[in-house]
Amino acid sequence: MTGRHLLTAADLPADRLRRLLAAADRHTAGQQTAPVAAGRTVALAFFEPSTRTRLSFEQAARRLGADVLTFDPATSSMSKGESLRDTVETLALLGADLLVLRHPTAGAAGDAARWLDALTGGRVPVVNAGDGAREHPTQALGDVHTFTSHRAEQGSGGGDWFDLTGVHVGVVGDVAHSRVARSTNVVWTALGAQVLLVGPPALLPGDMADWRYAATATSFDDVLGTLDVVYLLRQQRERGDSRRFGDERQYRADWHLTVERADRMRPGAVVMHPGPVNRDVEVDRDVLDRSNPPVMLLGRQVTHGVAARAAVLEWLLDVEPDERAAR
Ligand code: NCD
Repeated sequence: MTGRHLLTAADLPADRLRRLLAAADRHTAGQQTAPVAAGRTVALAFFEPSTRTRLSFEQAARRLGADVLTFDPATSSMSKGESLRDTVETLALLGADLLVLRHPTAGAAGDAARWLDALTGGRVPVVNAGDGAREHPTQALGDVHTFTSHRAEQGSGGGDWFDLTGVHVGVVGDVAHSRVARSTNVVWTALGAQVLLVGPPALLPGDMADWRYAATATSFDDVLGTLDVVYLLRQQRERGDSRRFGDERQYRADWHLTVERADRMRPGAVVMHPGPVNRDVEVDRDVLDRSNPPVMLLGRQVTHGVAARAAVLEWLLDVEPDERAAR
């Protein structure tokens, strides 16, 4: 591909991750208010429901001073047979400088990147905001930034907050259908963390070739006390064969973060979840609402998602303030 795109977490090697995390620090601290992307247009095309991801990209783009062009499939000519390619090309011809795409088909963002490279010679980057069950790299980036910021505040980790060596992350529940799990695995591993995929055998990936470095476990109770981060996943019933989830009562008994399980977590361990949360399915409402440990980072994940996406937009629009100063 000729252009720069963020299609999978593999597009974020450790040095790029560190630069994005440092930029996200700057945004979280409110240190950057200059409209570095004024006059640029960020197009959002979401072909699947989304609250957090779409709004946080919109918020991030506006913070940088960019204009936002929103495509709504429900009221568009898609109903007249317009293809994804037509839509993507039309957005570029209307002046989009960057496209954020969410689509139910795995690989859709890669297709869009190829079409736009051919049309514009690599001028319009594509950011994958979730393609089917495959990848969701900006969610993983925002989450890891939530965690590194939390560590920095706690003063744990020895000064280099972005070095996650020795951190044990358990990604728990419906791993097989989760694009967040796939991107999380790659991003956290790149920074040195050890990622454990924890779920019932039917909901762990069948083929581990794509899941670099991760190990698996099939009992939450066995590994709970070893984890620094308990990253809960929503059951993605919309993606697959509901028989894979088995009996709902049994699933809750084995995989639900109850108060009793929360009390067995490591001191200082945190709970994360990409949202939307199904209260009382992945996690007990009493765990979500209580004020004593473990530390719940769910709300902060939303806020840090905006900072991380602002960092990604700056990078791909080529308006990073630090880079400009260095030139
Ligand atoms: C996730 C998604 O859409 O993949 N949510 C999100 O982006 N905040 C996870 C989910 O839907 O469970």
